[in-house]
Amino acid sequence: MTPLSTYSADHRFLVESAARATDLTDPVAFVAGGYAHNLVVNATRGPLVPIDGALVRQWVTRSKYYPGTAFGIRLYSLEGIRFARCVANVDTDYEESAYDLFVVSRADYLKLFRRVLRLSRQKVENGPPPVLPDSQLEVLRQNTLGYLDRNNLKRIKELGGRPKRGLLLTGPPGNGKTSACRWLWEECQRHGYEYQLVSPDAYQAARRSCNPVQAVRELFTVHRCGVIFFDDMDVALRDRNTVRETDDQAVFLSALDGIQVNEGVVYVFTTNCSLDLIDPAFKRPGRIDLVLHFTLPDAPLRRRLMDRWHADLRAGIDLDTAVKQTAGYSFAEVEELKNLLILRYIDTNGWDWDWAMEQFRENRTDLAEQHRHVGFAPVGAGSNGSSNGNGDGH
Ligand SMILES: Nc1ncnc2c1ncn2[C@@H]1O[C@H](COP(=O)(O)OP(=O)(O)O)[C@@H](O)[C@H]1O
Ligand SMILES: [Mg+2]
Repeated sequence: MTPLSTYSADHRFLVESAARATDLTDPVAFVAGGYAHNLVVNATRGPLVPIDGALVRQWVTRSKYYPGTAFGIRLYSLEGIRFARCVANVDTDYEESAYDLFVVSRADYLKLFRRVLRLSRQKVENGPPPVLPDSQLEVLRQNTLGYLDRNNLKRIKELGGRPKRGLLLTGPPGNGKTSACRWLWEECQRHGYEYQLVSPDAYQAARRSCNPVQAVRELFTVHRCGVIFFDDMDVALRDRNTVRETDDQAVFLSALDGIQVNEGVVYVFTTNCSLDLIDPAFKRPGRIDLVLHFTLPDAPLRRRLMDRWHADLRAGIDLDTAVKQTAGYSFAEVEELKNLLILRYIDTNGWDWDWAMEQFRENRTDLAEQHRHVGFAPVGAGSNGSSNGNGDGH
C-alpha cells in the first residue's frame, strides 16, 4: 500500500473505533491547533478506552492536558458535548509516528468549536484601563473598539466610506500612552480583533529591507478587522540628533496611503512630542483623524490613581497630602513614589511618605544630570516638549 492509503485506512479505523467506543454518531475528526489546550483543560475527563483491544497507559501527572495514554482513546465532555481524543503511538515509517486527533459527533462539531472559541476569549485576564478622564477614555474606546464594531463598519461601507481610522496619542512621557495601547490590545484579544504591534526596531528593519515600501506596508496591514499600534513612532521616524525629519517620513506616509484596507483598521500612533513638531502632512485627515492628549494628571486623577494602591499603603499615608504634594507629577512619577514607599516599608515596616518624596527628588536630580533626549524633543527643551527650541517648525 502507498503511504497515503495506509494513512487513510489507519485514520478511518481510528475514527471508527473511537466513535464505536464512545457512542459518537457520524464522527468528525479534527486537530485543535492552538485551541487544544483550552479544549482539554476545560473539559471533564472521562475514562480511557482501548483501540481494537489495545490500551497503553501513560503516567503523567503534570497537567490535565495530557490524555494519559500512549495508545488509546480518552473520553471528555465539555458543557455536555462529548468528544474523544484518540492517540496511537504506532511505529510507522513516517516521520510522525503518532496519531493524535479529536473526534466528535457531526451534530456537535460546530457547537464545540464555538464553545472553545468563547473560552479562549474569556481566558484573557484584562487589567483595568489607565486612569483617564472618563470622557477621554470613552472617546478612546469609541474610536477603536467601537469603530471596529461590526455594525459600525457595515454602515461605513454601505455609505461608501473607507473603514480606516488613525489616532494619535500625544503628551509628555509617563501619562499613559503606552498603557492605553496595552489595554487596547488586551481588549482586542478579548473581542477577537486582530492586532499588530509595530516597534521602532521592526520598522527600521522593514525600512532597510530591499523593498522598503512593500515591507512597511506589510508591517501595517491587518488581514481581518483590527488595530495596529505604532508606539513611540517618532523614535522610528525622526533623526534623533538633528530632530529633522528624514526621508523615512515620506516613505512611511506613502506606504500607509497605499495599504489596501479589507475589513476595517484603526491605527494608533503614539509620540511624546508636542503636536507642533509633527509634520502637518502626517496630521492630515485620512491619516490622523483624531488626536488625544495624555496630559499630566490633575488632583482628582492623581487621587484616582492612588485609590488603586494597596489598602495598607493607603491607610499608612495621608492621601490628601500625597495628592497635594504631587502636583505637576506624571502618573509614572506618582507610581514611582508608590514603589519607593513599598521598598521602604519592606526595610522598616513603616509607611514613610516624606522619605519617599525626598528619595524621589534625589533620584530625579541624579537622572536630570545625565538626561538624554529622544524623539522630537529639541535639545534644551523641557520634557513636556512645549518649546520650539531649535526644531524645524513641524
Ligand atoms: N493614565 C495612567 N493610569 C495609570 N497608570 C499610569 C498612567 N500613565 C502612566 N501610568 C504608569 O506609568 C507607567 C508608564 O506609563 P506609560 O503608559 O508607559 O507612559 P507613556 O507611554 O505615556 O510615556 C505605566 O506602566 C503605569 O504604571
Ligand atoms: Mg510610551
